[in-house]
Order: sequence, then structure tokens, then C-alpha cells
Amino acid sequence: MTLNIVGIGPGSPDYITPAAMNAVMNSEVVFGSRRALELFPSARKTVVLGARDMDEKLGRAAELAISMEVSVLSTGDPGFSGVLKPLKRIISSRGLPVRVKVVPGISSIQLCAARLLIPWDDADVITLHGRGEEGILDVIDNGRPTIILPSRNPSKTAAFLIECGLDPERRVAVCERLSYPDERVLKSTLRDVSESEFSYMSILVVL
Ligand SMILES: C[S@@+](CC[C@H](N)C(=O)[O-])C[C@H]1O[C@@H](n2cnc3c(N)ncnc32)[C@H](O)[C@@H]1O
Repeated sequence: MTLNIVGIGPGSPDYITPAAMNAVMNSEVVFGSRRALELFPSARKTVVLGARDMDEKLGRAAELAISMEVSVLSTGDPGFSGVLKPLKRIISSRGLPVRVKVVPGISSIQLCAARLLIPWDDADVITLHGRGEEGILDVIDNGRPTIILPSRNPSKTAAFLIECGLDPERRVAVCERLSYPDERVLKSTLRDVSESEFSYMSILVVL
């Protein structure tokens, strides 16, 4: 049987691929955050993944997939700051004999680049999930846009960049709640962003 690691896109059902839907519908058990599971109301059996019990539940998903079809849902694409990395670590550390398949999804990064008309082979993409903000400084002044997935809030990252000496009037964009009905794309300055509030589901782009 198979452990399907399924990218579900940025959040709207419009961005769920038929391959993702097939994997979920063919699974006996589907693991995902509450927000992810809501996109698949006809999934057979579901298990909610929370931040606190993430590793334990991912381990359970991998063990179950030895004998049945299981899907684990991941926002956007599983391979960028998604569940592919922790699942690979868990499977290899426990030596689980499980067949793994990744179903790619449309990443929030792709939708952000699309909204801002940025060809993203011309951009640097950085996630701050699980790492410090210092890495941004290596690329911020190389003439290419920097697309940042902040782990805290875009305002905190903007404040950090100003503290590090970036011009507070530097042009930036924030893409918030992409694909949802209340999606917002704000083009502004580092200073304005550092003084504003944003949802956790936001991407900061330093232009
Ligand atoms: C743990 S990472 C997951 C990234 C995901 N694997 C992807 O490919 O989009 C979570 C971050 O993705 C970004 N994100 C996910 N969905 C988003 C959305 N609908 N709108 C804006 N940002 C989003 C936010 O920066 C959030 O903090």
C-alpha cells in the first residue's frame, strides 16, 4: 500500500488538482490540519494533525500505510516547507517499509509570484520556518526579488530588515490569504509593513 503525501494548494478548492482528489478519495485514512481536511468533506476516515502532536501522528500515518492506502495532506506543495521532510525523517529513522508517493500541489509561492507578475526563476525564495531570519541578508541586495515565507508575521520580518539597515522606504509586497475570498495583495514599503498587522498566512516579497 502507499503513503500519499498530497499537496492541496494554497487553500481554495479551485487549486486542488484532480490527482490530489484521486489520492484522497482512494485512501482509507486521511491525515491533515483541520483547514486542509475541510477541503475534502467526502474523505472516508480523517485524523486531525495539530502542531503539538505532529510527529506522533505522522509516525502513525506512516505505520498505517504499510498495510493500507493513506494520505497526508500538506498545504501548497509538500516539498517546500511541507510534510515531505518530517515524514522522510520519521520513515528513515524507524526503518519503516512503506512505499511513498508525493502528489505535488500548487505552492503559495507560485500563486504569490503569479499575483505579482514575477517570473520566479528570477527570484530568490526563502522560508523562515525552522530557521533564522539572518539568511535573508545574503540575498536581499542582489537585484532579484526575495520571496519570503515568514515563520512569525511579515511585520516582524520587515522590522528585522529595517534594524539590519535596509532602507525603510524599500518597496515590498505582502500577499495575504491567497486564493481565499478575502485575499489581499498589498504593495507598500518596509516601514508600512513593519507597522501593520497580517494573518499568519502571508508572504512577504522584498522587491
Ligand atoms: C509551513 S509553510 C507551508 C508552505 C507550503 N508547503 C506551500 O508550498 O505553500 C506555511 C507558510 O506558507 C505560506 N502560505 C500558505 N498558504 C498561504 C496562503 N493561502 N496565502 C499566503 N501565504 C500562504 C505562509 O507564509 C505560511 O506561513
